[in-house]
Parts: sequence; structure tokens; C-alpha cells
Amino acid sequence: MRHLLQLSVTILTCAMLTTVLAQSAGGPPAWAYPMNPPGFKPTPDDGALRHVTGSSLSLTLSQVNNRFFASDWHPEDHPPLPGVVAHGREPDVLACGFCHRSDGPGGPESADLMGLPESYILQQIADFKAGTRQGSVQSRIPAKLMSSIAKAITTDDAKAAATYFSSVRPRSIIRVVEADTAPKVHVTSWFLAAVPDGEREPIGQRIIEVPDDLAQYISRDSRSRFTAYVPVGSIERGKELANNAGKTVQCGSCHGIDLNGEGAIPGIAGRSPTYIFRQLYDFKHGTRSGPGGEVMKPIVETLSVDDMISLAAYASSLAP
Ligand code: HEC
Ligand code: HEC
Repeated sequence: MRHLLQLSVTILTCAMLTTVLAQSAGGPPAWAYPMNPPGFKPTPDDGALRHVTGSSLSLTLSQVNNRFFASDWHPEDHPPLPGVVAHGREPDVLACGFCHRSDGPGGPESADLMGLPESYILQQIADFKAGTRQGSVQSRIPAKLMSSIAKAITTDDAKAAATYFSSVRPRSIIRVVEADTAPKVHVTSWFLAAVPDGEREPIGQRIIEVPDDLAQYISRDSRSRFTAYVPVGSIERGKELANNAGKTVQCGSCHGIDLNGEGAIPGIAGRSPTYIFRQLYDFKHGTRSGPGGEVMKPIVETLSVDDMISLAAYASSLAP
């Protein structure tokens, strides 16, 4: 009986997982807004010390998962961390480096902050605070926490974090690969990870972005790298759309010729395609509608989900 029950729980969990990752008709695509499966529990701390390549530091999983602590595996990679990036300010301002990592590369579930314009960072914090940047799936915890941080942060801490992240030189952390198939994935801590047995499945109209080394990413190593699988032909199609195939305004006219940003407008080259897609989708659906969001809205209005996938694949494939 217990076995039967376990079996049905397993089948149910698998069924839910499939639903979680299926292309939802109409609504926000589940691959871009991954939700942890019901009852999800992060890996428990076994007390073992974790290490990453190129660092002499050792940390337990509990230290790595402390929300008021940035796992700074490679202090030589960046200037000294401001207090708010390294340990936040209790009780509501979690360490920026906890999610965005010490020098800001973040991951598909958060955002890459490396080298963003200082004024742009401050404006985004203001938008999260005002509730004009909530995202299209508001139950996702990382985005919710970002909003509560923005509501609680002091002007001085916001300025210190913005000055710091804008001083970091952007670097490439993603390999974009066109393919008919992608690794089969499951959701862990709000991002996609390849299933351990290496199984693959048709990519369909999705972007499947996974850490190259799951244990390294779970250890919050800022040097973690990703592979993003995108549909065949999407990079070229995105290039045509970005350079004005008549469907929308040339992206480079505001984001700079190489899409590396211009003035207060952020760069989008070499950044997570999952993140880029999510932003385009949010602009279009009015869930990112601060002052800059109003500028982006008419640009995304005519774009389909496929167009946004192509634009994200193209932008992400460029050097940051
Ligand atoms: C709990 C995780 C978490 C922490 C801690 C966190 N953020 Fe974020 N942050 C996010 C998420 C998630 C997003 C992106 C949401 C989305 O998809 O739009 C984000 C987005 C941002 C953006 C927008 C980036 C862009 O390109 O538009 C900025 C700026 C930012 N965070 C700054 C900060 C600062 C400064 C701190 C520290 C005071 C901080 N964050 C702490 C989760 C976090
Ligand atoms: C008229 C100027 C303009 C054009 C043209 C434009 N953008 Fe933007 N874009 C902006 C502004 C301004 C922002 C900042 C939005 C904000 O503050 O919320 C932005 C933000 C973005 C973001 C979010 C970046 C982040 O860090 O979160 C993405 C992605 C983006 N644009 C993609 C595109 C693409 C793709 C195109 C071409 C199809 C494009 N943009 C064309 C002005 C423009």
C-alpha cells in the first residue's frame, strides 16, 4: 500500500513537472518563469565543506544559503564589496550578492548587473519599490524578495550598490547553442537544471538555459557558466528583427550599435536570454511599466513570443 502511494506521488510529481514546463497556451511561458514544484525543498546541509575551482575558501551549504551573506569565492575578481552587497541590512535588505553574486553576474532566475548604468540601477530599484516592475508571474519568490528589498533599502545603500555594480566590467558567461533538442530539465530553486541522466527532448519554441556545473552554481560561485539552447535559426532571425525587419524599431538606435548600452540605457548583449525574454514579455504585458517600460512598450507591442525568443537568442549571443 505504501509503495502504491509512493508510486502515485511520484507519478503525480512527474505529471506536475511536465505541466510546469509545458508551453502554456496564452499565459507566460513556464520555461521563462520556472516555478519550484509543490513541496520543493532545497538540498539539506550535510555539514560538508564545499569548494570551487580556483578558490582556497571553504563554505558549508548553510553559509552559502544565508540570505545576509554573499559567497565571495574570488575576492580578487572585483573591487571591495560595499556592505549592502556583502551582507545586506537586516531584517529586510538581503545581501545583493546573495542572488546577484559578488560581482553581479546573477543567473537566469535573477539578473545580471555587471556594468549596468548607475542611474539605470537606481531607477529599477525605484520601479520595484513603486510596484511598476513586478513581472508577469508575481508568485515567484526571487522577484517578490527583490521588491521587498527595494521598499526597505536606504538611499545611501542603493547608491553604494549601484556605483559598485556599474563599475564591474561585463564578461561573457553564456554559450548560446542552436539545436533541435535540448536537455530535459527540472526546476530547482527557480531555475532550470538538466536532469542527471543526460536525456534530451525536442526544444520546441523554448529557450532552455542551464548551468554547466549545477553543484558550482548551487555553491553560488560567481564564475559559473551557462549554456542556453535556442531553436535552430533563431539567432539569424533575431538579428534581422533587431536590425529592423519592418516589424519594430531598431534596437541599436537606443541600446547602442553592438547592443552594449548607451548612456542610461542598459546593454542587452551577452546577457541571459531567459532574462531578456522575460523582460520583453513583461514590457508587452504591462507588468514592467516604469518610465523606461513606457518607452519599451510600443517596441514590443507587435512582437510574438517567437519574435521575443529570437531577439533574446540574438542579443545573448553577442559579446557583452
Ligand atoms: C532574493 C534575490 C535577490 C536579492 C537578494 C537581490 N535581488 Fe535584485 N533582482 C532579483 C530578481 C529576481 C530580479 C529580476 C526580476 C525579473 O526577472 O525581472 C532582480 C533584478 C534587479 C535589478 C534589475 C536589473 C536590470 O537589468 O534591470 C536591479 C538593478 C537589482 N536587482 C538590484 C539589486 C540590488 C542593488 C540588491 C541589493 C540591495 C538586490 N538586487 C538584491 C533578485 C534579487
Ligand atoms: C526608443 C528607445 C529604445 C528602443 C528602440 C529599444 N529599447 Fe529596449 N529599452 C529602452 C529603455 C529606455 C529601457 C529601460 C527600461 C526601463 O527602465 O524599465 C530598455 C530596456 C530593455 C530591456 C531590459 C533590460 C534590462 O536590463 O532589464 C530589454 C531586454 C530591451 N530593452 C530589449 C530591446 C530590444 C530587443 C529592442 C529592439 C527590438 C529594444 N529594446 C529597442 C529603450 C529602447
